[in-house]
Amino acid sequence: MAEAPGDRILVTGALGQIGTELVSTLRKRYGRDAVLATDIRDPDQDSNFSQGPFAKLSVLDGESMERIVVEEGIGTIFHLAAILSATGEKDPELCQRVNVGGTVCVLEAARDFGLRVFSPSSIAVFGPDSLKTAPQSSPLNPTTIYGKTKVTGEVLGMNYWKQYGVDVRGIRFPGLVSWKAPAGGGTTDYAVDIFRAALDDGHYECFVSEETRLPMMYIDDAIRATENLMDADKAHLGTSRVGYNIRGISFTAGELADAIAEKIPGFTCNFVPDFRQKVADSWPDDVDDMSAREDWGWKAEYDLDKMVDEMLFNLSKNQSS
Ligand code: NAD
Ligand code: SER
Repeated sequence: MAEAPGDRILVTGALGQIGTELVSTLRKRYGRDAVLATDIRDPDQDSNFSQGPFAKLSVLDGESMERIVVEEGIGTIFHLAAILSATGEKDPELCQRVNVGGTVCVLEAARDFGLRVFSPSSIAVFGPDSLKTAPQSSPLNPTTIYGKTKVTGEVLGMNYWKQYGVDVRGIRFPGLVSWKAPAGGGTTDYAVDIFRAALDDGHYECFVSEETRLPMMYIDDAIRATENLMDADKAHLGTSRVGYNIRGISFTAGELADAIAEKIPGFTCNFVPDFRQKVADSWPDDVDDMSAREDWGWKAEYDLDKMVDEMLFNLSKNQSS
């Protein structure tokens, strides 16, 4: 393997839900200039991204990616650019092209220049034949195009690790709940949107049924998991290295609405399922994360109550400042 051109970090899809939080965490840890944020779109002028290095980059442009890797002295890529499940169901071709094509460009750059890679997977790799609590090792038969691209991403990552020794790591993130950036076109977006609606309107119309139960996680846990996995000793990572299940919280849409109503008296929610119901129904209720606990000591810190408190506190603070 070639020696990496440097030890700086490149983040693809940095302006999205995860990137917005991961970039600031990485900059706090390694220094502002150590982290090059990239995305296909420009950041808002008043956002944090205007205070650190940023480059416009499509993950489908392998040539520009490799040039940036060399010129900017990159050693690690956190590859977050993707098309999520709901947008993917509407535009399968784009989803396939960005999720698979982008991952190939990142892995090729990693192979050519000896880079480490974090490339997230998703609970969407599971399909309707999965157990309700999805084990780490089980058949992966997703019915969504997004899920299929995530399975391909795991297969590609494992191949680059086995064939070329590229240090690729990944987590099958549950639906993530956060307040800094809006959710980006996924099926689990209701668990984010409901908080803003509760504060702004006292009411939310939820696009999945009250009984819909999915694996979810508060963003702080997800960012900590990402850091922990990337910090883990290579020798401790087993066959799940490109797609570890990590457990956060499992709740129904109705339980989430009730937990919010306890904090915001008068909040109401009605449930009007749309096309995303079918996607949600194809995913498990929860995941078993024994491998992540054993291999790199994973443990979530947020339960439903703690997450609701954090979301309402931070969104309210943000609104009043
Ligand atoms: P997001 O949709 O919020 O952000 C994705 C970013 O990618 C956007 O800023 C978008 O502009 C950018 N992008 C799109 N096409 C691009 C291209 N061709 N080149 C460069 N950038 C491009 O997504 P997210 O929620 O931050 O997810 C990041 C990763 O985590 C994805 O791989 C996603 O599948 C995975 N994941 C997310 C969740 C979740 O709940 N957020 C759950 C499981 C897995
Ligand atoms: N939160 C993502 C979605 O709903 C799951 O990967 O698409």
